[in-house]
Amino acid sequence: MVNKVQEYGNTVLTQSLPNQIPNLLESKPVLQIWGKQPLQGQVRISGAKNSALVLMTGALLASEPCRLHNVPALADIKSMGDILSALGVKLSLDGNTLDIDARHISETQAPYELVSQLRASFFALGPLLARTGVAQMPLPGGCAIGARPVELHVRGLQQMGADIYIEHGVVRAHARRLKGAKIYLDYPSVGATETLMMAATLADGTTTIKNAAQEPEVEDLANFCRALGANIFGAGTNTITIEGVSKLHGADYRIIPDRIEAGTFLVAGAITRSEIQIAPVVPEHLIPVIAKLREIGVQVVADAPDCLRVLPAPMYRGADIETRPHPGFPTDMQALFMTLLTISEGNSVISETVFENRLGHVPELLRMGADIRIKGNHAFIQGVPQLSGAPVTGTDLRASAALVVAALAAEGKTTIQGLQHLDRGYDGIEHKLLKLGAQIERIVPEIPTDIGIPLPL
Ligand code: UD1
Repeated sequence: MVNKVQEYGNTVLTQSLPNQIPNLLESKPVLQIWGKQPLQGQVRISGAKNSALVLMTGALLASEPCRLHNVPALADIKSMGDILSALGVKLSLDGNTLDIDARHISETQAPYELVSQLRASFFALGPLLARTGVAQMPLPGGCAIGARPVELHVRGLQQMGADIYIEHGVVRAHARRLKGAKIYLDYPSVGATETLMMAATLADGTTTIKNAAQEPEVEDLANFCRALGANIFGAGTNTITIEGVSKLHGADYRIIPDRIEAGTFLVAGAITRSEIQIAPVVPEHLIPVIAKLREIGVQVVADAPDCLRVLPAPMYRGADIETRPHPGFPTDMQALFMTLLTISEGNSVISETVFENRLGHVPELLRMGADIRIKGNHAFIQGVPQLSGAPVTGTDLRASAALVVAALAAEGKTTIQGLQHLDRGYDGIEHKLLKLGAQIERIVPEIPTDIGIPLPL
């Protein structure tokens, strides 16, 4: 029998699932945004999420306490902290400064419930194994943007002499001491490069990683490991060489600014035709993003070596984008640029080549009046004069950010649900937008108390 489903605002009641009704009735926060408000001012860019997460796992390598500065306030950072705590690591956070004391690691298996919430926690496999000789990491599983396998991490560690088997969904790795190896990655995976680079710092001998990821966060991790006393050369290029040492000490280290958050505010400025200044940033990390903005017709100027300003332009033109590993166009900016292209004149094609399932924002943008067709991993966009506000749902982190940006430009009110994704990766986004003059509010919608449950037909 087909279930009778009835919608009450954002809540769906299903006749045949009475035991789920209490959960469905639990109201989750939503963002309400009234679009077309001109924005103006400066935004402070937080520390890079993807650096902070992996540097936290890197602290497992150190036999002395470490201090990280510029740690963003994010749900993902809290989750990574919980995982490290479960391993016996001591953490203390004071503002944006995080002290990590991994002198005594009492557990070598991370709990599945925590790892499944945060895929990046799997990257702890390498440092944990290198430091303790044993690591047991539940396979993180897929996520909203794709299957996200980890065979490159596992194969690289095996080449370094680790004995690895997968049992009941857990990767169990042993190695008295890892040995230097020559590793070629089939694909320049960010996580695999980071896992293997960290593991190699404490290995016996020299490791080379060819076809390594060149993302700025990989370079940041290498700089952090160097501050701990590691010998790493070539990070930021496609060949990284690591000469292993027997022990690493503590360090005091500042995380780089978040290039994806910076890119998000550049797009927010462009789409609302506003003048916004962002700092601190490393403009070099934003080269592919700035180049594409300029191609679309957006002006970006440097006010200082670490400060960029986006300037309004009356008209934007369509552009084609193909996501690629760094220094190619970042997949993490794909959804945001799609939003900008929906209101740019002419046709655009976006090809997502990094993740197989990263177009979840398209149906939501269609609800807001965009004209987009999908074929395989390509999105064909025909520019429309404007977007209109609608109730929408964020399906993953960057898709949610894209909806916020779309809402800022749209006519009328947009209500965004699924904020758990946004909170994973944007430090205080609504406060930053409010300061720029956006009309944005986080509310917990009231559920009517006199909802009748529909009867079967
Ligand atoms: C990191 C970033 C993420 C970003 C992505 C690509 C973190 C915490 N996350 O994710 O924000 O979108 O880089 O820039 O830093 N792959 C394999 N086998 C493997 C590993 C990866 O096939 O063993 C594939 C993936 O499925 C994907 C592609 O390689 O299709 C890129 O993934 P990868 O670079 O590993 O991304 P992450 O490190 O998970």
